[in-house]
Amino acid sequence: MGAIDIRGLKKDYKDVQALRGLDLSVEAGQVYGFCGPNGAGKSTTLKILVGLVFATGGEASLKGIDAINNGVEARKHIGYLPESYGMPNSDTPRKFLTYMGILSGMSKDVVSKRIEEIAKEINLTDNLDRKIKTLSKGNKQRIGIAQALIHDPDILLFDEPTTGLDPLGRNEVLDAMKAFANRGKTVLFSTHILSDVEKICDTVGIIHNGLLIEQGSPEELRKKHGAKDLDEVFLKVAKHG
Ligand SMILES: Nc1ncnc2c1ncn2[C@@H]1O[C@H](COP(=O)(O)OP(=O)(O)OP(=O)(O)O)[C@@H](O)[C@H]1O
Ligand SMILES: [Mg+2]
Repeated sequence: MGAIDIRGLKKDYKDVQALRGLDLSVEAGQVYGFCGPNGAGKSTTLKILVGLVFATGGEASLKGIDAINNGVEARKHIGYLPESYGMPNSDTPRKFLTYMGILSGMSKDVVSKRIEEIAKEINLTDNLDRKIKTLSKGNKQRIGIAQALIHDPDILLFDEPTTGLDPLGRNEVLDAMKAFANRGKTVLFSTHILSDVEKICDTVGIIHNGLLIEQGSPEELRKKHGAKDLDEVFLKVAKHG
């Protein structure tokens, strides 16, 4: 049993077959880079794991718990960073994160300690009490990551966590994800930035037209395709079609 097990996952949106039988597994404590062209089905996969989208067929489990039929139980173990979302701009990160913690069933005291801990880890401490609308994109992304971590979940599902960040901000987020995995958490994140995958991922999976077409360690994939880096691997296997 892996931390994340997906078998034969299918999703039809009216006339679009977004997932056509996706198989994917992630071992506990791994960082998994989920790559693929625009529209390949990455966000749909994450949304099914979180329960935001219903699968048309197939199976998905988190720590052995059925994420499709027993979503309430499975969701206790996941922290999710969506691809994009609105935040309460007139509130401060501290207030927003306090709401999120309380919604997860934590007491105010526990949440307030947890916020300090997370803020330290992801470099948000100095901005906890400024209004969200005044913060940079990088800091907004940190708030998104903080809300995903608030209830100390074991599995982190991050949809493009480094998109739009400058190289310093990207490195911080990458380091944080690697540190979570070193503490035994499982991280699955989608991205188009293959150099990020190369830096921190144990395993990379490439999804194309709703199917996983390649999976392995960055080194294995480079060797298999005689490529100098993952960009080259990607260009070889994922043609627009
Ligand atoms: N709500 C929806 N209704 C109809 N089609 C959708 C919906 N959401 C996604 N799709 C379609 O499903 C396919 C997969 O989309 P998805 O957002 O999962 O891709 P993605 O890999 O996350 O792409 P990107 O890299 O651009 O974020 C695309 O063809 C997309 O247009
Ligand atoms: Mg997406």
